[in-house]
Amino acid sequence: MKKMWAGRTDGVTDKLADQLNSSIGFDQRFYKNDIEGSIAHAKMLAFKNIITKEEADKIVEGLQGILADIESGKLEINLSAEDIHMFVEETLTERIGETGKKLHTARSRNDQVALDLRLYLKDEIVKIEKLVKELVATIVYKAEEYKDTIMPGYTHLQRAQPVTFGFHLMAYANMLLRDVQRLNDCLDRVNTSPIGSCALAGTTYDTDRYYEAKLLGLESVCINAMDGVSDRDFVIEFNAVCSILMMHLSRFSEEIILWSSWEFKFVELSDEYTTGSSIMPQKKNPDMAELVRGKTGRVYGNLISILTVLKGLPLAYNKDMQEDKEGVFDTIDTVKLCLEVYISMIKTLKANKENMLSAGKKGFINATDLADYLVKKGMPFRSAYKIVGETVRKCTERNITLENLTIDEYKEISPLFEKDVYKEISLETCVNKRISVGGTSVKMVEEHISDVKKILNIE
Ligand code: ARG
Repeated sequence: MKKMWAGRTDGVTDKLADQLNSSIGFDQRFYKNDIEGSIAHAKMLAFKNIITKEEADKIVEGLQGILADIESGKLEINLSAEDIHMFVEETLTERIGETGKKLHTARSRNDQVALDLRLYLKDEIVKIEKLVKELVATIVYKAEEYKDTIMPGYTHLQRAQPVTFGFHLMAYANMLLRDVQRLNDCLDRVNTSPIGSCALAGTTYDTDRYYEAKLLGLESVCINAMDGVSDRDFVIEFNAVCSILMMHLSRFSEEIILWSSWEFKFVELSDEYTTGSSIMPQKKNPDMAELVRGKTGRVYGNLISILTVLKGLPLAYNKDMQEDKEGVFDTIDTVKLCLEVYISMIKTLKANKENMLSAGKKGFINATDLADYLVKKGMPFRSAYKIVGETVRKCTERNITLENLTIDEYKEISPLFEKDVYKEISLETCVNKRISVGGTSVKMVEEHISDVKKILNIE
């Protein structure tokens, strides 16, 4: 097929070259954005008397018809067109004749592709943000349910101090809220119009780029035409924001996988989010969490790809930039699917309170509190730390816990110990005395939950 840009060359390209060159297989996703962009462009051209009002009306009507026909299935996107921009323009000219050829005045495909990507991304960022907020809300409700469920908190994956499951979950709520902020920051920079850059240097036509941006609902215009068509920072940024988001989900997944193991048995996933083994009848595998962890690698890959594509690219547009889209689409699809599964998986997750508590009772996780007890009675922290360390060692040798020592044994260790020591080192006390800002006490977690609910505007 002869290309629309035939002229300088005869516009006939090799079949394999066409295959390499073509982007319609993936950029057809932009059909709506491309048409929306073209409608705004025709309106701007008429507004500035570059084409007549009648011509613009004819173009707009033609474009609206194309959109309606694609959506109803009447018009199939022709995959032999080079890209979606060409397909829309060719179809328009086929339908309305010569007037269709006026649409491409004062713009270039380089502007168009950058615009379409921005418009598309803008919608998708809003959708992803909504899903992240829904996941935060789900976590908040779970945290509320388990705000007094005691479990060991870990450092180095060694039992460290008692926390509640609600507290642990709220850590993820915080991470994801930062992801929401990052998505919004990214949106600010996506919200800018490159249309009218006219390939690289601006135009001699008396256009109104601000008017056109306003019609498209974009906040501002790219103020250097060369930058406008060369800039894919927003693609990198979007992939980076999604990579951080996936990293959070991946850490969460890792914990869910550990907690579902027989070694922990802290949580039980609903059957719907697990799979069986083809050979081992006893298996209930946390595949969904594993896949989210695995797909994180793929989203990182998309970030590294676009960083690498852009590295060393001279200004302005180069065809290398066509490689920006598939990674973005893949990231969007992956992130959305992972978030959707996560929301339901967390909603249906059940904690095993008894196992969490019994794990808490075994790891000397109240040792810090025992040391603090002595400090509050006047002993310097370092001395208390040493005494308690030695006590823990003796307990492990006798295979007992700190609660099992008699008061006489405690008094032998230090005369500062009194009977109230047992209450002071009970896990409930350890948790609920942690009332410092950000602490694990039920009181502080309740405050945190209510703050996050306010941010999300939920009850
Ligand atoms: N399909 C192209 C892309 O995705 C559109 C821009 C083409 N521009 C050009 N000068 N060949 O980047």
